[in-house]
Amino acid sequence: MSRMVIDGGFPLSGSVRINGAKNSALPIMAASILCQGPIVLKNIPKLNDVETMAKVLEALGIKIQINDCGDWKLSSFSGVNEEAPYELVKTMRASFFVMGPLLARRKCARVPLPGGCAIGVRPVNIHLKGFEALGARVGLDAGYAVAKADKLIGTKVHFDFPSVGATENLMMAATLAEGTTIIENAAREPEIEDLADFINSMGGKIKGAGTPTISIDGVNELGSVEYKIIPDRIEAGTFMVLGALSKGAISVENCIPVHSGAVIEKLREMGACLDFQDSRVIVSGKKRLLPVELKTLPFPGFPTDMQAQFMVAMCLAGGTSIITESVFENRFMHVGELIRMGANLSIRDRTVVIKGVEKLKGAPLVATDLRAGAAMVIAGLVADGRTEVSKVHHIHRGYQNFVERINALGAKIQYFDGDGDE
Ligand code: UD1
Repeated sequence: MSRMVIDGGFPLSGSVRINGAKNSALPIMAASILCQGPIVLKNIPKLNDVETMAKVLEALGIKIQINDCGDWKLSSFSGVNEEAPYELVKTMRASFFVMGPLLARRKCARVPLPGGCAIGVRPVNIHLKGFEALGARVGLDAGYAVAKADKLIGTKVHFDFPSVGATENLMMAATLAEGTTIIENAAREPEIEDLADFINSMGGKIKGAGTPTISIDGVNELGSVEYKIIPDRIEAGTFMVLGALSKGAISVENCIPVHSGAVIEKLREMGACLDFQDSRVIVSGKKRLLPVELKTLPFPGFPTDMQAQFMVAMCLAGGTSIITESVFENRFMHVGELIRMGANLSIRDRTVVIKGVEKLKGAPLVATDLRAGAAMVIAGLVADGRTEVSKVHHIHRGYQNFVERINALGAKIQYFDGDGDE
């Protein structure tokens, strides 16, 4: 099993460049199903989740070439299959993003229902309700969600919750529908806008992405395009937290600060120093951080994907902090790990009370999911002594060259792959 061994307590400083956004890359890759292409995508991060999406697309018949500059070319001149393979989809929920574009292009899609995962049950009822509203007959067959339609017809859909994935899936399905689709209570995450910008640059007609009401005028077909993915705001936020705990200064380069608004506000409230220069944020935290309260919410609220990393910072703050997780029902698996390091945490329902301690002590830890894994690494970096984090394959799903980039800031992390080799 792959693991990281971290010798904590070293001050960190230097600069780190943020890669393309995983949560933009995955739906945008899926949206390549909407046209024959070729589509050229720039700034695709090298991540395990991206590899999984590439395998799903290849299984559907999309041809993928990556050139020397790392640009991805996707095309499907000989058509696409309508069924996504279970063996791949079960490893990554975001594979379900292929359902909307498959339904739009083939008028038929069979995609395995994603199971639950470490952070919650994560149903797809809102996605399916959206497809049904467009006129698709939606059912379940041997673990597969199946949607069929003679044609998709634009309509008004109101989401009970602003689901990111459902907004993206329905936006993709509606792109080739007849007439206008209006999504009310849509998710407003920057990745939604990125997907809409991508589809519009292919000839789609989407307005209002980034607001709660999105309107999509269906078009007959989309054309080829070259498109660059936005920087990853969660990767940026993770390094900002590290900067606030670094005892030095970390320059987070190539980010879009407005995409990290709620994270930046919370860091300020905690007393971290932030200096902004265009697409660069320099974060330093030489003093003990202050306690804060935060609640995770859909964008522009505080992102659930930054909750675990902030919890580590709160463990060492000078007072009592409170986190309420309102997006996922089971996203506190890292609490038990932090307690093992000497943190003072108690959970009640969806709230964690964090009484700041002077020090964390190195311990063997488990990366329970992607963002919790990043949080465990941050905890190991600020703890006294040695921390060993196991199951770090979760981290490779969402952070490119994590160890190399943190070590370049002055950290001492050794990485051992599954066979025990460094
Ligand atoms: C996306 C992000 C993920 C992030 C999450 C919330 C990607 C690839 N992943 O996940 O990193 O943590 O947004 O910001 O972009 N829900 C339902 N029914 C549905 C859909 C969702 O009940 O049909 C619930 C989920 O169980 C969850 C909440 O809505 O409790 C948020 O889910 P959603 O916004 O859909 O997140 P994802 O798109 O899965």
